[in-house]
Amino acid sequence: MKIAVLKETAAGETRVAATPETAKKFIALGAEVAVEQGAGATASISDDDYRSAGAAVASRADVLAGAGVILCVTGPDPSSLAGTSAGTLLVGSLDPFRRREAIDGYAAANLQALAMEWMPRITRAQSMDVLSSQSNLAGYKAVLEAAAAYGRAFPMMMTAAGTISAARVFVMGVGVAGLQAIATARRLGAQVSATDVRSATREQILSLGAKPVFVENVAGIEGEGAGGYATETSAEYRAAQAELVSSHIAKQDIVITTALIPGKPAPRLISDAQLATMRAGSVVMDLAAEAGGNVEGTVAGESVQRHGVTVIGATNLARSLPADSSALYARNLFNFLSAFWDKVQGGLVLPDDDEIVKGVRLTKDGAVVAERLTA
Ligand code: NAI
Repeated sequence: MKIAVLKETAAGETRVAATPETAKKFIALGAEVAVEQGAGATASISDDDYRSAGAAVASRADVLAGAGVILCVTGPDPSSLAGTSAGTLLVGSLDPFRRREAIDGYAAANLQALAMEWMPRITRAQSMDVLSSQSNLAGYKAVLEAAAAYGRAFPMMMTAAGTISAARVFVMGVGVAGLQAIATARRLGAQVSATDVRSATREQILSLGAKPVFVENVAGIEGEGAGGYATETSAEYRAAQAELVSSHIAKQDIVITTALIPGKPAPRLISDAQLATMRAGSVVMDLAAEAGGNVEGTVAGESVQRHGVTVIGATNLARSLPADSSALYARNLFNFLSAFWDKVQGGLVLPDDDEIVKGVRLTKDGAVVAERLTA
């Protein structure tokens, strides 16, 4: 089976869906790998690096000709995939809700589109989870960017000219990105506190040496929904959380918000009035900016000033670490495809009743089949 690796064309995309390491592993499975010219350039991978791994490097048309699988990071425009055979798999972060027209286009072209961000959160799929691998890097980079925008130092420093006190960092939403943000801020010497709706995170916060800040004694505190994701909280919970945040946030220098609820706008965690209580020069980094933002006044992709506080609407931070984010993303794709590789048939077999296949499949036999899109 031939695997085609596309050069990304979306504005700002720096990653690539396969690395020489994963190309070599696909070849070891018995696949043929063809990489579009220049596909790895923004992730510091040259065409020669792919050739040394045993892959062919060619134009898009040549790469697509006869391919059984197409690997991408951001979903390509269906019109850019002309010449693909019927039934070819398209595997990547296809952003199904926001790119519905493109998904219809994949169905019309008889491609089998698989959205990696819809990977179910089950133990078997952990190593295939692109949201998780990219969020981890985003959590790390969020702290570095916040530190760069902050006009003071992070660690406590005792100098001959006097003492600088440690920065106080508050992380809201302790999923994959939040945990990495806590760990990174701690490494930089900040005093870190964190909160989440899922009570299971309390132990994780403590284990990283940070202070948990939790709403107590309110019904619906658990907030844990299907598959380890958060659900929306009750009105009573939201009121208690707002009060807790108000008293805590005024003493913080850096706030990093990462709270997301799948399929819903991001929960509003910080109001403009709460921002106004922070000391001038503080920095708020909103990682939920693209989902509407956790912070009132966030502008996705921009840094804005509110009451002397810098509010950064962070978007796709993983793209700013293209070598690492590509390496992890490419491994996620390899782990997924190799789990369904049939050595006897020398290709992929995706059983319709498999939980993972059901989760990621968008189109088949010329139609959109994902329940989340057709319901
Ligand atoms: P996410 O990106 O969906 O959300 C980020 C965090 O925001 C979550 O911890 C969530 O509980 C929190 N949040 C939502 N609403 C909030 C509110 N109103 N106030 C405060 N916090 C709020 O979550 P992420 O990072 O993807 O991970 C969630 C969990 O899923 C983690 O425990 C992670 O380890 C697990 N996971 C499991 C996988 C697997 O088993 N295959 C794969 C990926 C994650």
